[in-house]
Amino acid sequence: MKKLWGGRFSKQPEEWVDEFGASISFDQQLASQDIKGSLAHAKMLFQCKIIDESAYENIKNGLLSLQSDVEEEELTYSVKYEDIHLNLEKLLTDKIGPDGGKLHTARSRNDQVATDFHLYVKEETLLIIAHIEELQKSLLHLAEEHVETIIPGYTHLQRAQPVSFAHHLLAYFWMLDRDKGRLQDSLKRSDIMPLGAGALAGTTFEIDRNITMNELGFRDKYLNSLDAVSDRDFAIECCSNASMIMMHLSRFCEELILWSSEEFGFIEISDSFTTGSSMMPQKKNPDMAELIRGKSGRVYGSLISLLTLMKGLPLAYNKDMQEDKEPVFDTVKTVKGCLSIMTGMMNEVIIHVDKMNKAVHQDFSNATELADYLAKKGIPFREAHELVGDMVLQCIQKECYLLDVTLEEYQEWCPLVENDLFEALSPKTAVERRNSEGGTGFEAVRQQIDAAQLKMAVSNN
Ligand code: ARG
Repeated sequence: MKKLWGGRFSKQPEEWVDEFGASISFDQQLASQDIKGSLAHAKMLFQCKIIDESAYENIKNGLLSLQSDVEEEELTYSVKYEDIHLNLEKLLTDKIGPDGGKLHTARSRNDQVATDFHLYVKEETLLIIAHIEELQKSLLHLAEEHVETIIPGYTHLQRAQPVSFAHHLLAYFWMLDRDKGRLQDSLKRSDIMPLGAGALAGTTFEIDRNITMNELGFRDKYLNSLDAVSDRDFAIECCSNASMIMMHLSRFCEELILWSSEEFGFIEISDSFTTGSSMMPQKKNPDMAELIRGKSGRVYGSLISLLTLMKGLPLAYNKDMQEDKEPVFDTVKTVKGCLSIMTGMMNEVIIHVDKMNKAVHQDFSNATELADYLAKKGIPFREAHELVGDMVLQCIQKECYLLDVTLEEYQEWCPLVENDLFEALSPKTAVERRNSEGGTGFEAVRQQIDAAQLKMAVSNN
């Protein structure tokens, strides 16, 4: 079988070499983008009088028919034709005859593949943003219900100060919001058209890149043909943004895993997102959360693959760059899957408010309250800190908590203590009063929810 580029060759590569060089097994994912790019290119060729109307109509109808074949999954590709671009060109020519061969005028596979890949990354970026928004909505919804639910807040994974559960959830809302912002920003760089760059140097044909740019809905076009075909920054950026999302999700999953353990007991992950053990009948394993945490590894791996792939590559196109697609495809699939699972899991999670409440009553996370109380009575904070440390130690020795100490005992320890101390020491008061901007106080959290809702509404306009 003669290659589409076979003119210069006197010997055919062997099958196993073809197999090694081919990308059709994975780049067939770009079929729709490739057809879209070809339709725009053909239209431009016609409008610029590079091909005549009958050739254009013929090509256009052939491409549209190929597009429906793609949708119906009716096409059979061959490694003989290496990649999706050559396969589709061959299928087109089989359908419409020699006019199919005119499509590739003033175009190279180098600007073609770059265009397809930009279209793909751009479309998928918008889909990932939509997935993020679904998760944000779910978190906001849960936060609204749990402004006054209190959980221990941790530093170093040691109980620190009690916080509103909504406040904790909203921290993830804002992380996701930054992820969304990064993706939106990256569109400035992926939404640029390489088409028209030719193999590397442009073309002698009098093409009009504005026609293809408008036809394909690109915001801008590359202004240097070498850069256009060499650039894979947009793909790397996609993997980098996805890595950040996965890092965030892995932290969230880690907390869900901890919280759903017997030791914490704060939440229960719905049956739909957990599995049992084949041996231990009592088990309910947080598999989905663990998998998301684990999948961050492959996404980071893809980012490193791409960075390493592009490192030191001379301009312009090099066959190495065929290796750019699988890491991005895998990343996009993984990150969308993880975001959906996460949303489903959050929509169904069961919150054990009683357990959370019990937890905040069985620790010393109100010790700061006691120190603040003394400081407000005029004792320098450092001294108050020292005094409270001593009281905590006494309690540990007596196996009780700060709220179990009587007024008399407190007054003996520090005569400034009055009966209002007990109110100040309750975890609810501790949380309720922290209304500094961005703090965990109920009022501050309600304001935060309003701000989050506003942010969502604005970004949807
Ligand atoms: N399959 C190739 C890729 O994915 C398409 C571009 C090939 N260009 C070339 N000159 N060999 O990178």
